[in-house]
Amino acid sequence: MATPPRSTLFDFHGVSMTKYFTDNWDNVQNFKARPDDILIATYPKAGTTWVSYILDLLYFGKTSPERQASIPIYDRVPFLEICVPYPGKDVADKLPTTPRLIKTHLPVQFVPKSFWEQNCRIVYVARNAKDNAVSYFHFGRMNHRQPDPGDWSTYLKNFMKGKVVFGSWYDHVTGWWEKKQTYSNLHYMFFENMIEDSGREVDRLCFFLGFSASAEEKERVTTESKFDNMKQNKMTNYSTVEFMNHKVSPFMRKGKVGDWKNHFTVAQNEDFDEDYRLKMKNTTLQFRTVV
Ligand code: A3P
Repeated sequence: MATPPRSTLFDFHGVSMTKYFTDNWDNVQNFKARPDDILIATYPKAGTTWVSYILDLLYFGKTSPERQASIPIYDRVPFLEICVPYPGKDVADKLPTTPRLIKTHLPVQFVPKSFWEQNCRIVYVARNAKDNAVSYFHFGRMNHRQPDPGDWSTYLKNFMKGKVVFGSWYDHVTGWWEKKQTYSNLHYMFFENMIEDSGREVDRLCFFLGFSASAEEKERVTTESKFDNMKQNKMTNYSTVEFMNHKVSPFMRKGKVGDWKNHFTVAQNEDFDEDYRLKMKNTTLQFRTVV
């Protein structure tokens, strides 16, 4: 099969985007959220699939095991703004389950207004910039619908300038962090905390969602969503997606904190840190780059 064309970035209301996420824009903006919808919002590669799977297991793991075995995670938790191979918004509209779990990478200012009007619960997952950049670089290499990432050094410069799909990491994580200060139905999570103690983070998630689960049930969810299990599971490892080449780099790649140390040179790290301090100087948001 011919390799599909890579996309190109363009400026979309001040954010770098590709047509694969803007072609259905009006329909996405007019999405009709319901009060019990749960939105999972992230900057790409922050642990979206991990948290999506945890939520799916919590809500439907016991009642619909056949769902886990036969429907890929991207159809159980549709990606709202994606347009190819079919619009995620249409999948979300037709979800037969309650609550509907919906994924987005949109920066906070682009979220369809009905989510706010309906006071939906939102789970935001953030990951430290260095590991996030490394993961996004490898994703660009293996996903032929992404713009060509070029070599690591070129990519890192583009990441720092926000010239990657969904724009600036700095604006994304801080924009959502600010929103949390005024919107109480937002649970802000960190990838690093999940790595440190996923059981504790599942407890916190359940508390936020008002979801009561037995210790045994939570243990099952934590175990099934471990990296190695998700990597082996065809329904969560994206091996069913034809435009991703897992031989170049698997979707479930390393799942660690600190892989940035294997990519950043000393000079790149210094430049990055200096630029980071400037870009993040007005926020209280803090990340860990080691656990
Ligand atoms: P790496 O590329 O660093 O391995 P997203 O789902 O937002 O696209 O994020 C993908 C990243 O989350 C990848 O990071 C992937 O390996 C990691 N990941 C997914 N599931 C995980 C899990 N259960 N435990 C740890 N990391 C996980």
